[in-house]
Amino acid sequence: MKLAVVGGGSTYTPELIDGFARLRDTLPIGELVLIDPATDRLELIGALARRIFARQGHPGVVTTTGDLDAGVAGADAVLIQLRIGGQAARLQDETWPLECGCVGQETTGAGGLAKALRTVPVVLDIAERVRRASPQAWIIDFTNPVGIVTRALLQAGHKAVGLCNVAIGFQRKFAALLDLAPADIHLDHVGLNHLTWELGVRRGGPDGEDLLPRLLAEHADAIAGDLHLPRAVLDRLGVVPSYYLRYFYAHDEVVRELGTRPSRAAEVAAMEKELLGLYGDPALAEKPALLAKRGGAFYSEAAVDLAAALLGDGGSPVQVVNTYNNGTLPFLPDDAVVEVQAQVRGTGAAGPVPLAVPRLDPLYAGLVSHVTAYEDLALDAALRGGRDRVFKALLAHPLVGQFDLAEGLTDRLLAHNKEHLPWA
Ligand code: G6P
Ligand code: MN
Repeated sequence: MKLAVVGGGSTYTPELIDGFARLRDTLPIGELVLIDPATDRLELIGALARRIFARQGHPGVVTTTGDLDAGVAGADAVLIQLRIGGQAARLQDETWPLECGCVGQETTGAGGLAKALRTVPVVLDIAERVRRASPQAWIIDFTNPVGIVTRALLQAGHKAVGLCNVAIGFQRKFAALLDLAPADIHLDHVGLNHLTWELGVRRGGPDGEDLLPRLLAEHADAIAGDLHLPRAVLDRLGVVPSYYLRYFYAHDEVVRELGTRPSRAAEVAAMEKELLGLYGDPALAEKPALLAKRGGAFYSEAAVDLAAALLGDGGSPVQVVNTYNNGTLPFLPDDAVVEVQAQVRGTGAAGPVPLAVPRLDPLYAGLVSHVTAYEDLALDAALRGGRDRVFKALLAHPLVGQFDLAEGLTDRLLAHNKEHLPWA
């Protein structure tokens, strides 16, 4: 099996390699190609990847290249994990919205729109080249904003699935709290990427006993602490929102906090510098502990599980993915992209088939609809450009909504992203 990673020079890659090495029985990789235009970083990370494979006795070959077309040729799956403009662009996304009193975040709100505008055309170009070089390949998209990017890929007819680690993070957390194996925990995970709620925590399978009431009765403080949300939120809702819901449920508090401490982008940039220093040590043959301070925990496990199920008969049959709604949430268009449990193994070229979701409470359905409408307009702006489309997407966002605010955010977004947006 040949796997290609676009953005293979990311400081995150050793997390992925570690998973590939440990889980080689689930996903037998013969050739792993790391693709990245940043040659120096790529060579550093390629060498570490080879050491990790060797240390763990993985027989697969790791190659590196800056040539996308050659790298993806003949691949069975292509993982896309890139960040246009790097942490510098992320820093902008996290900063200028604050000037308008809005949350500054890389995937939520106005910053997330900026990221979508920069990213969608690049990922579509890559996917087109993947299709030419390797029409059978599955594209697994980690690139944020995953919901919008996946929708762009699916609309362009690509064989793509969007993936995020929020669900697997909850699965691992809940399994530990309940003293169960992760594979025994199935989440009733519903919503859009970075806008989800765990409505049930089932034992053994999607139809198993719901352990959520017990989990909340025994561990609400621990869970609320992790989410940085008051325990009352869990008590009142009776479900577990993802930590991205904090940007909605505690928006003003987050804005105040963000004004008083260094941005996540600055923290991550410092960590990346340190990580690159560690990666250069020829004695290092494992992922360093520092990597655990990044947000990507378990993303390698999720990637292995998904690739194994899409490409063969391994991996979990049902997994949480981003895919077309197709009636799953009946109040959304069929071609919206939702993040839900889906059958992924044994569905062949059709790809994931979402499991049925019970009627969603208006408390969640309202926000999901609202953000879906924003994502629709955001994708339109990303594909066709133009100030007016950017403005409309912002006006439609539930965290913006006001005319003057949308104007101010539009001006800032365009001013800060000129080099990435040819039409701006
Ligand atoms: C989580 C999210 C990812 C996001 C990451 C950011 O893993 O699911 O979509 O990219 O956090 O982590 P960072 O360490 O870059 O802040
Ligand atoms: Mn994510």
